[in-house]
Amino acid sequence: MSKDPKDMSREELKHMEYKRVPEVPVGTVPPLGVLPDKMHAWVIREDRFGEPLQSFQEEMMDLPEIGVNEALVLVMAAGVNYNGVWAGRGKPVSVTRMTGKDFHIAGSDASGIVWKVGENVKHWRPGDEVVLHCNQSCDTFCGQCAGYDPMMCQGQKIWGYETPYGSFAQFTKVQAQQLLHKPKQLSWEEAGSYGLTYFTVFRLLVDRAELKPGEKVLVWGAAGGLGVFAVQLIKKMGAECVGVVNSDEKGELIMKLGAKGYINRKNYPNLAWKDNSTPEEAKARMQDWKAFGKEFQAKMGINRGPDVVVEHVGKVTFPLSVWILRKFGRVVICGATSGYDLNFDVRHLWMHQKKIIGSHFCNGEQAARANELVLSGEIKPVMTKRFTWEEIPTAHDLMARNLHFGKFSCLVSACRTRTRPGTPRRRKRRPRRHPLPAF
Ligand SMILES: NC(=O)c1ccc[n+]([C@@H]2O[C@H](COP(=O)([O-])OP(=O)(O)OC[C@H]3O[C@@H](n4cnc5c(N)ncnc54)[C@H](OP(=O)(O)O)[C@@H]3O)[C@@H](O)[C@H]2O)c1
Ligand SMILES: [Zn+2]
Repeated sequence: MSKDPKDMSREELKHMEYKRVPEVPVGTVPPLGVLPDKMHAWVIREDRFGEPLQSFQEEMMDLPEIGVNEALVLVMAAGVNYNGVWAGRGKPVSVTRMTGKDFHIAGSDASGIVWKVGENVKHWRPGDEVVLHCNQSCDTFCGQCAGYDPMMCQGQKIWGYETPYGSFAQFTKVQAQQLLHKPKQLSWEEAGSYGLTYFTVFRLLVDRAELKPGEKVLVWGAAGGLGVFAVQLIKKMGAECVGVVNSDEKGELIMKLGAKGYINRKNYPNLAWKDNSTPEEAKARMQDWKAFGKEFQAKMGINRGPDVVVEHVGKVTFPLSVWILRKFGRVVICGATSGYDLNFDVRHLWMHQKKIIGSHFCNGEQAARANELVLSGEIKPVMTKRFTWEEIPTAHDLMARNLHFGKFSCLVSACRTRTRPGTPRRRKRRPRRHPLPAF
């Protein structure tokens, strides 16, 4: 009779034999060493590209095979990101055309349990509790990966967006370098919620913008997925921010997270950039920009523009982001929710020697460094709502319609009370750790 995984050494775990079963019900954690032939997954296909309620459909899929440097992870909870919305729409790029497969399982955030590892994987074993970062690179020790920054690698991809096996399934396959320790103090759903957006703003602020103590920052969408971590990190780095939101409720949230102030953009109906504006529209816009700039200065307690603007809204906000910066200021951009063909007055850029800096996710070292601040409790996930497996399309739909804030997380194999494989249900209720406004 083969040994119980609980009694195996770490080396034995790596080479254990797996018992195949046809399938495992969603919301359950099978014993370690049990592997289903098929898995439940939310699948996007080209013929149903569109909004999330249409594009995400549940199917039974074959389990992915893993390579020598990869790991198969049992997904306990999966975080919702805007790239799931982009993937479902098939716009601006078709995810299936990108991967060459006829299906796509979205999801670039997860917490889970390592289930199986490839031959070359040294540091992780089945049973390890992990969160995942979503940067994949060539895995062949190219010059960029080995000697500079894996984000520069020609093979760089975002797992779950540019690769077909993301986290909205019972199992996912990842490169072993994507595995990070799960913070023990967090529930599965909290742990699955923060990686993509937090690690993105970490690189963006620390390594790309090179934010310095005392600097003043304007953060767009400050109660959104990127925003809630930008606000926390800016404070942690000894700088200050004013965040932009579309409601006072969101404003209260970011004040709790450490913002110096907030601006409700609903008070500025003409703020957004529009191509081909009439002279009257352009005049009304400039009036709003000036008033917005004054409010920023008043909330920040200074008489100049920000040193740094955190941009990801794109088309409608970018021209204002460039305009509002102080001389020599930097706008750091990592997304374009409202459109990517930007149109702005470049005179403000060169005359005042401002900089535009692009930033995209982060590398494994930055993710690990950022994760240490979550492990130590210094940066907290801001999970505002937990969804069930069945509600995964709904969670994306709310995000697509900007009816959310903070981060959403969805239970996959975790049910609320059961954590490790084979452990009995816990009856004790966890105290609420983050006193956030009710969603
Ligand atoms: N390159 C990367 O590595 C990377 C990583 C993460 C995200 N992204 C991209 O960055 C963008 C934001 O991601 P996220 O997770 O933070 O999304 P999110 O949770 O939806 O937050 C975005 C925020 O932007 C604000 N916003 C939306 N439309 C706006 C508009 N027309 N004008 C002004 N503000 C607007 C909203 O705040 P209010 O309505 O409250 O103002 C919203 O909360 C997405 O496009 C995503 O794909 C890129
Ligand atoms: Zn490489």
